[in-house]
Amino acid sequence: MAGTQVVIVGAGPSGLMLSLLLQRQGVDSVVLERHTREYVEARIRAGLLECGTVDLLNEAGAGERMMGEGLVHDGFELAFDGGLHRIDLQGLAGQHVLIYGQTEIQKDLGDAAGERVVWGAADVTLHDFDSSRPRVTYRKDGAQHEIECDFIAGCDGYHGVSRASVPRDRIALHERIYPFGWLGVLADVPPLSDELIYANHARGFALCSMRSTHRSRYYVQCPLEDKVEDWSDERFWSELAARLPGDRASRLVTGPSIEKSIAPLRSFVAEPMRFGRLFLVGDAAHIVPPTGAKGLNLAAADVRVLYQALAEYYRARSEALLDEYSARALSRVWKATRFSWWFTTLMHKFSDEPFAHKLQLAELQYLAGSTAASTVVAENYVGLPFDAGRAAGTIRAA
Ligand code: FAD
Ligand code: PHB
Repeated sequence: MAGTQVVIVGAGPSGLMLSLLLQRQGVDSVVLERHTREYVEARIRAGLLECGTVDLLNEAGAGERMMGEGLVHDGFELAFDGGLHRIDLQGLAGQHVLIYGQTEIQKDLGDAAGERVVWGAADVTLHDFDSSRPRVTYRKDGAQHEIECDFIAGCDGYHGVSRASVPRDRIALHERIYPFGWLGVLADVPPLSDELIYANHARGFALCSMRSTHRSRYYVQCPLEDKVEDWSDERFWSELAARLPGDRASRLVTGPSIEKSIAPLRSFVAEPMRFGRLFLVGDAAHIVPPTGAKGLNLAAADVRVLYQALAEYYRARSEALLDEYSARALSRVWKATRFSWWFTTLMHKFSDEPFAHKLQLAELQYLAGSTAASTVVAENYVGLPFDAGRAAGTIRAA
């Protein structure tokens, strides 16, 4: 039987980041991923990084390309009622965010993690995580394997095996499903604007984002029942334009889509995040609707707390930080869950009732006229501080 200190299930951003950070502390790990590397790197997902996530990727030794190619954004715009209000992130919260695609992060992390990842590991099964000697079994190329370890990190996303291995009476699941989805389109056209635009419109929400100065990522709110085939490129571009203020819509550059997908929106939190020697990390423990761009950033925040706790365990044989993992991670998770829920509720169409839309517009107008209210948005968007007194972000300084 093989052995390692930490078995990490899942080679998404959280699993790979955790493995790299542990390695830097002299802690060995093996990462077991169900899919092939090509499949994992092709998934189009997040695009916006908080400074804390940027710092952690640099600390993991996987940040070099990101620092060269990422786009620094000092603010974003809210479009409503035919006009626009800019949230000045730098001015109000003293930080910026970075645009750099999850596909690129995934490649950078995969390169750095190298041989420690077993791609295509089937039937990953967790054993004895309540004992001092957990084991993980899996199948690869027809052969059965078993790894003994000190700890298991469940970094295997919402549909993974780790959370599902916990007895139902030991875990509390909190969930809210939203009655719509996001239709996303990726296209090699210049972005509409230098910054992101989040639009509240009577026809539904729209978001103008980007991956680079020549690749755009756009989203429109759509009914949950819709299929990608229902949305030709022409229909998508005209619906997006209809939800933007007139002067912006007229500047929209359209082109053939290179990816199109529909994602459901969900808020989900599993508590606690530790079960004996099993720790849940990232999407395995929580999901937020993408409106606040918090998913990947929350996953990185969990990794930060866990790798420091594991490093402390091996350095000082102290479980004190491991004992705090769940509470520390969840305190941040619930704040981001609240912000993502609030921002989703403010920006999307939930019904045809004019009253509901009037209330949204009143709140957006209040926001636009209040530095205090805009600051609340900016502080949450750039990411809440990890520890009281943490200095402002370091994307530019690094
Ligand atoms: P995942 O990325 O889901 O990785 C889990 C890995 O585990 C996967 O590779 C999976 O194949 C593997 N796995 C699953 N089951 C098993 C098993 N049984 N055995 C072995 N391996 C397994 N977040 C942001 O911060 N900013 C954004 O702008 C943003 N935009 C988004 C837009 C969209 C359309 C979507 C869908 C998500 C967005 N997110 C965003 C969320 C973000 O993509 C996720 O939060 C992030 O991928 C979580 O990382 P993770 O490593 O925890 O999980
Ligand atoms: C994205 O670029 O995919 C993106 C950006 C910001 C969000 C959600 C998604 O809030």
